[in-house]
Amino acid sequence: SGPTPTPTPGPVDCTALPCVALTFDDGPGEHTPRLLDILAAHGVTATFYTVGRQVEARPDVVRRMRAAGHQIGNHTYDHPQLTAVSADEVRSQISRTDALLRAQGVTPSTVRPPYGAYDASVLQVLGSLGHGAVNWNVDPRDWEVRHTPAVVQRVTSAAAPGAILLLHDVHPTSVDAVPEIITTLQARGYRFVTVDRITGGVSSGALVNRGRHP
Ligand code: NI
Repeated sequence: SGPTPTPTPGPVDCTALPCVALTFDDGPGEHTPRLLDILAAHGVTATFYTVGRQVEARPDVVRRMRAAGHQIGNHTYDHPQLTAVSADEVRSQISRTDALLRAQGVTPSTVRPPYGAYDASVLQVLGSLGHGAVNWNVDPRDWEVRHTPAVVQRVTSAAAPGAILLLHDVHPTSVDAVPEIITTLQARGYRFVTVDRITGGVSSGALVNRGRHP
């Protein structure tokens, strides 16, 4: 319902217009190409927090994300809770994934720690690798509910200007929710932008802590 949204060319001024950032964790997965089709059809850019071993499995999908102008971040190599492993392991998890992304022509921008879990030691290592960390402030628990109308309802009811929305592109029920999330929020005047545009960039070792610990 409502008018068909027209993608706005050029940068969006998030101080003048309400913005939200869609973020997708844990991929790229088998449903990610379909998600990229959906985002392209709506003229929307998003942010993908990719897992290194998935980047190894689907490098072509990462190149497609890059070509479409999406932001691509680092979600570790194989998704450990970073507060439960050594500093050397944190460094390995992040630097290995950075290298995999760079091999696909991507300059990774920011880290999302698995489970949103961080401490001073984790942030210090991220900072030493030139990264800041980004959590979220709207979590529909899509990995748990696995029900498309519930994911749409939870996201659209909680969205607010500047919101960072957490979804997982490895779940088809979440990918299926994206068209209605986009059309519902666009009808309320929201623009969909990358995390970097919402935050203005995150300094090395800093945390955008809009998220909640599980
Ligand atoms: Ni994750």
